[in-house]
Parts: sequence; C-alpha cells; structure tokens
Amino acid sequence: MKIEVVKNYDEISKLGAKYMIDVLRNEEKVVIGLPTGSTPIGMYKIIVEEYKKGNITFNNAKTFNLDEYIGLEKTNTNSYYYFMNSNLFSHIDIKNENINIPNGMAKNIKEECNNYEKRLKEQGPMDILFLGIGQNGHIGFNEPNDYFETNTYKVSLDESTVNANARFFDKIEDVPTSAITMGIKTILSAKKIVLLASGESKAETIKQAVNGKVTPMVPASVLQLHQDVTIIVDEAAAKYL
Ligand code: F6R
Repeated sequence: MKIEVVKNYDEISKLGAKYMIDVLRNEEKVVIGLPTGSTPIGMYKIIVEEYKKGNITFNNAKTFNLDEYIGLEKTNTNSYYYFMNSNLFSHIDIKNENINIPNGMAKNIKEECNNYEKRLKEQGPMDILFLGIGQNGHIGFNEPNDYFETNTYKVSLDESTVNANARFFDKIEDVPTSAITMGIKTILSAKKIVLLASGESKAETIKQAVNGKVTPMVPASVLQLHQDVTIIVDEAAAKYL
C-alpha cells in the first residue's frame, strides 16, 4: 500500500484528480470505477475544469459506479445516478452508453446484479478504481460482516450508514436501507485502486484499514491484499497512522 498524506481536502482532490488524468492520458481505452459521497466531489470539480480547458477527454472512457441505492428513481436528487450526472457526467464528453451505474429500480435486483457483474467482466478490468471509505470501514457498500461478499450483490445497509447518509435526506425514514454494490472480489479486480479519505472522523477506520488485521469486520482492510493501492489522506485522517 502506498500512503500519500497531504495537507487538506483540496490537496486530496488535486492528487486524486492527477491519478485520474494520468490514466486518461496514458491509456487509449480506459475503464474507470467511481464512487459517490462527499469525498470525491472536489476531485470531480477539478476533472470538469480540466475537461473544459481541453486538457482531457472521456471520448474513449467507460465508467462503472461502485453502488446505487435500491428504490430511488434516477430523478431523485439522492440517487447516485443523479449525483454522478450533476457532479460529473453532464459536464464532460463521456458517451451515455459508456456510463454504467447499477439500476436500483430494476424489477429483478438479483438479475441486475448479475448483469452488472457480467458487463464489468466483459468490458473491464477497471484500469483504476476510486474509493471513499465509511466511518465503519465500508468500501462501496460492503458493510462490516463476518465474511467477504464477492461479486456485485444486494446489501442491507448498516444502521450507522443509514444515519451517516441521513444528512442528505429530509428525514431519516427516506434513507434507503438497501443498495446494490460491487462485491469485494469485484473491487479487487481493478488494476489500480485509489482510496480517498478526509477528516478526523475517518482517522480511526483508516488506521484499522491500513495497519490492522485483514478482516471482513473492516472491509477496507482487504485492500492490504491488492498489489496496487494508494491511500490519499489529509493530515486529519492520517492522525493515527
Ligand atoms: C459511495 C460509496 C461509499 C462512500 C463512503 C464515504 O459510492 O461507495 O463507500 O465512499 O460512504 O462517503 P463520504 O465520502 O460521503 O464520507
């Protein structure tokens, strides 16, 4: 694992964007795995600016999002589809057919999970996958558990995750309690993984993920087993490293 400690959130965003830009420039066809959440917003802003300056193109890029809530329409401002569109996709030249986000409104969720996994296998592997991390150590929506789930699957969200995500919703009852997420094996199939974490609230889980034992109780700890992982943290999130 490579650990990059930077000063603050802005520096995380800049460095994260640099990793994405490098891959976009160096690969002819690129497959990028993407997270939502608060953490990558700054990185996406920089990517949009670089695109507008003419420095990068997504013409030959495909993207696969990590996860999506079950039960939110695409038009719902809290869906990850909406998030990705407003923070990134509507501002860049990516082709619609090259955007992949699990469909949380699918009639048959199991089939949707299997198809997502299949599409990723056919079009992948991901050249680079960006991750955030939950305070409970989740990556994607792989919650602490007594075993690792492998492929894309339907997950029930932890109470702590529902509580953490409630800040985006009018009331806590509106927060979905289940989601579709890439599994741990799906995540580890990426050639390169870059995890971004900012703020003291992530410091304890970052310590466990980086220096603790590999356990499904801290899903991010499994990243210790991957051969090309970079963790970008600010000083606050690196407090216990
Ligand atoms: C979102 C995702 C989650 C978030 C994590 C951190 O697509 O996969 O694992 O990365 O919950 O969220 P923030 O960045 O809001 O702290």
